[in-house]
Amino acid sequence: MKYIGLIGSILLLVACLNDKNTPLPNQTVVVDTSSSIVVPVSPVSPANTTCSPDTVYFQQTILPLITSNCAMSGCHDAISKKDGVILTDYTNIMREVKVASPASSDLYKCLNETGEDRMPPAPAAEFSLANKALVLKWIQQGAKNNSCLASAANCDTTGISFSASVFPTLKTYCTGCHSGTTPSAGIDLNSYAAVKVYAANGRLMGSINHTAGYKPMPSSTSKLGVCEISQIKAWIAEGTLNN
Ligand code: HEC
Repeated sequence: MKYIGLIGSILLLVACLNDKNTPLPNQTVVVDTSSSIVVPVSPVSPANTTCSPDTVYFQQTILPLITSNCAMSGCHDAISKKDGVILTDYTNIMREVKVASPASSDLYKCLNETGEDRMPPAPAAEFSLANKALVLKWIQQGAKNNSCLASAANCDTTGISFSASVFPTLKTYCTGCHSGTTPSAGIDLNSYAAVKVYAANGRLMGSINHTAGYKPMPSSTSKLGVCEISQIKAWIAEGTLNN
């Protein structure tokens, strides 16, 4: 029996090493995610909404932060579910959260571990202090499935700026997977020039609109807000400027 355990451990070790070093065909593993640490952005101007600046919203901040840094293929998506952990949606993320004891929640603790226990694991960059603080604060505020979005009615879609609107949205929801040395699907969205290519070939709008024939992004179960989609659409219609 001892040997079976040992063989099991070796197989597990090999499997893990394989995961890290040699992605299987069709498998995308983000190796260099130094550029993927998301700086949460306020998706709407405060004047437009009743969003509280002191509240950490799950839908706009925590979900994109966790999915784009942890739920990629080979890690904690529904298919790979490393260590049985799925981090693609609220229900599954809550399995790693202890509302009564925020700092001992696995979702938070793993960010601060050392060595191979740290998540996301090296060579991915450690979460910034600001992002760790957001995760903790969200749990301390009750780990709610809360959202604060501009409605279609109060969404400003004129003179949309790439640097002030479009890029921050992509940084929040997309570049965790679509940047670094092995971006998902070979698509890097971490620069104006690259985004322009996918804006021009229709794949950017097709994927975020969940149009038939395109892979739904950021995932089949979550969609950008109505206002964010309208702003990206308007930015393309206005000439895809580097403004
Ligand atoms: C969790 C990782 C992840 C996140 C987050 C993510 N993507 Fe993707 N993306 C992928 C993978 C993996 C594929 C390839 C899908 C496939 O072939 O099944 C892909 C494919 C695409 C494609 C090609 C779609 C097509 O049908 O041609 C585009 C465009 C794209 N993503 C844009 C985005 C945008 C824009 C966002 C943010 C709103 C985003 N992605 C967020 C992993 C991700």
